Amino acid sequence: MSRPEPQDLRAQIDQALADCLALDTLEPSLGDAMRYAAIGGGKKLRPRLVCCACLDLSGDLAAAMPAACAVELVHAYSLVHDDLPAMDNADTRHGKASTHVTHGHPEAILAGDALQALAFQVLADATSLDASTRLQMLSTLAHAIGPMGMVGGQSADMAAETIVISQMKLEALHRQKTGALLTACFELGGMAAGASDEDLALLSEAGRHTGLAFQVIDDVLDVTSDAQAMGKPVGADAANAKNTYPVLMGLPAAQRYADDLMHQALMALEALGLRNGLLAGLVVQSVQRSH
Ligand code: IPE
Ligand code: IPE
Ligand code: MG
Ligand code: MG
Ligand code: MG
Repeated sequence: MSRPEPQDLRAQIDQALADCLALDTLEPSLGDAMRYAAIGGGKKLRPRLVCCACLDLSGDLAAAMPAACAVELVHAYSLVHDDLPAMDNADTRHGKASTHVTHGHPEAILAGDALQALAFQVLADATSLDASTRLQMLSTLAHAIGPMGMVGGQSADMAAETIVISQMKLEALHRQKTGALLTACFELGGMAAGASDEDLALLSEAGRHTGLAFQVIDDVLDVTSDAQAMGKPVGADAANAKNTYPVLMGLPAAQRYADDLMHQALMALEALGLRNGLLAGLVVQSVQRSH
């Protein structure tokens, strides 16, 4: 049994995010759109991973919070852009209308841009962390979400619509579009705790398995769940002719694949002595989830 997450962790994350987003923008609608996209909804899995990795390694929650906010700001930006008609064309997210529906397309694009920049600003300005840790964190996040990471994966995902790709290509795509940011969450939490290079490598390994498993399950839930539970459209992958694991290998095999990846992630955590830690609990939740 893993130990439970601190009860008020989500509330602390929400408060820290609200503080980051208490912006007085020249155009009030920009700040509104950014807060609409980033506050309140969602599982907050990425910031919880950062915080739990740090706590598992006996770090302070306060040291993890700038990176926790940064990854959720990036996640929120990625969803705003992902939902645009030019991409997945989804009109609901987090159980409410998508940002481009409520705030218009230009404001949604700009809110996404601004959320991304704000993520780096929050990390760069985190003066409670020493400069070399901040630089290491900034580099990790930039690598994870740029052309070789999340955005590269999103580009490959769009390019593969309507064509069938191999399992090897789909794995590479999923690792980039979703796995890279999730892996960074494990690493950033370790960095906040001052983890050794050996421990960071094991965290990274756990993150890589979890990140891929997370997107496999996202693909599965798009087939098996309903819009109410997900807070976003389901059947969207089929409607957009996406390549997904259920299409490639069938639902039961996709589920088994995610379970295998989860066990590999737990083995990496075991090697860190964290088999019963908070992070292990989140790894299991990432795969055994209903939404
Ligand atoms: C959705 O992520 C986008 C993917 C990368 C699959 P989440 O399932 O973590 O989104 P939230 O919890 O609704 O914010
Ligand atoms: C999105 O993947 C990955 C991102 C980088 C946002 P999906 O397009 O499958 O995410 P959902 O299903 O819309 O949340
Ligand atoms: Mg998409
Ligand atoms: Mg989508
Ligand atoms: Mg999806």
